[in-house]
Amino acid sequence: MSLPNRIFCTGLFAALSGVALDAKEVEPVVREAFGTTSDSVLVERFTLTNKNGARARLITLGATLTELHVRDGKGELGDVVLGFDTVAEYEVNAPYMGCTTGRYANRIGNGRFVLDGVEYRLVVNFGRHHLHGGIKALHKVVWQGEPVERAEGPVVRFTYLSADGEEGYPGNLDIAVTYVLTDEDALRIEYEATTDKATPVNLTNHAYFNLAGQAAGSILDHVLTLRAGAYTVPDSTGLPTGEIRSVDGTPLDFTQPVALGERIAQLGMGYDHNYVLDHGDVAAPELIAEVSEPHSGRRMRVWTTEPGVQLYSGNFLDGVPGKGGAVYQQYHGFCLETQHFPDSVNKPHFPSTILRPGETYRQITIYGFSTAGE
Ligand code: GLA
Repeated sequence: MSLPNRIFCTGLFAALSGVALDAKEVEPVVREAFGTTSDSVLVERFTLTNKNGARARLITLGATLTELHVRDGKGELGDVVLGFDTVAEYEVNAPYMGCTTGRYANRIGNGRFVLDGVEYRLVVNFGRHHLHGGIKALHKVVWQGEPVERAEGPVVRFTYLSADGEEGYPGNLDIAVTYVLTDEDALRIEYEATTDKATPVNLTNHAYFNLAGQAAGSILDHVLTLRAGAYTVPDSTGLPTGEIRSVDGTPLDFTQPVALGERIAQLGMGYDHNYVLDHGDVAAPELIAEVSEPHSGRRMRVWTTEPGVQLYSGNFLDGVPGKGGAVYQQYHGFCLETQHFPDSVNKPHFPSTILRPGETYRQITIYGFSTAGE
């Protein structure tokens, strides 16, 4: 396991380099400039390195995860999230690579909802619907980032005040997203928000994973298990009709492990579905998914407090130029976007997404990494 390995590596390094090691050998959090936006705002990057050498990189533009290096079955580090090399590309980021998505992740039908008798109209950016918080949404703004001391591992905390009326949403929304790269090789994401007017909130991270490595190509060999016996039935635009249906006997059934590619051809474009998680309403994160990749031996487990997860198989990736010369084609990355159900504001029987003054929105999602057999 990791502890003897760590002692071995540390000892070997000391012997080879002939220097005494101290705690500063690898800084747990390195803060540096990543670049500037087209309107000259500085974008910072935080590199978190845990005790096993796993590394996560995050930037203040969109509170975005840009790199995540974890070990494979041979002990070698590899970057398992898709992304870009420059600020300019993240300013476009049409596929929503690694970003914090909101104020409302996924769709709000016709970009409208009624709350406490008042109709709100949001920016419409996906056909006639509102998607992922609008145009200048949370993934397009520069957040404040600060390292935080914690026992579990290196941490960066991003904050942003979304002003009353931004993209059409009511209330000044004070948001904090905290990323912890734990010494158990898990990326733990904590979301918090408060408001001064009632407003819908539904935050997620839109990371695209490829456990064989970000430039490795197809994810169709990845084997997925999902603790979800039902899904919200989408219409042709991806908006829930309101019906919740069993996955039983459909290509959406991942209650037993199945490769992502095995039944994808039966689905038209691929997976882009909101699953209704079996765990219901929970305060502490529950295990909802396990994904393994046979060639690298990497495995990812997902825990969340959210009632839903969007399984998206990278259907719209169409030759997107990515990190280090990679080119991302359809099905080269998958997302497990933990969330409340799409269009909950217009579907009173879905779990509520309304945050009111005096309350604190809190959600946690954990992506944990290990290798086959661990
Ligand atoms: C989500 C949506 C998709 C698409 C992707 C990003 O998964 O459900 O329709 O917008 O994000 O391209």
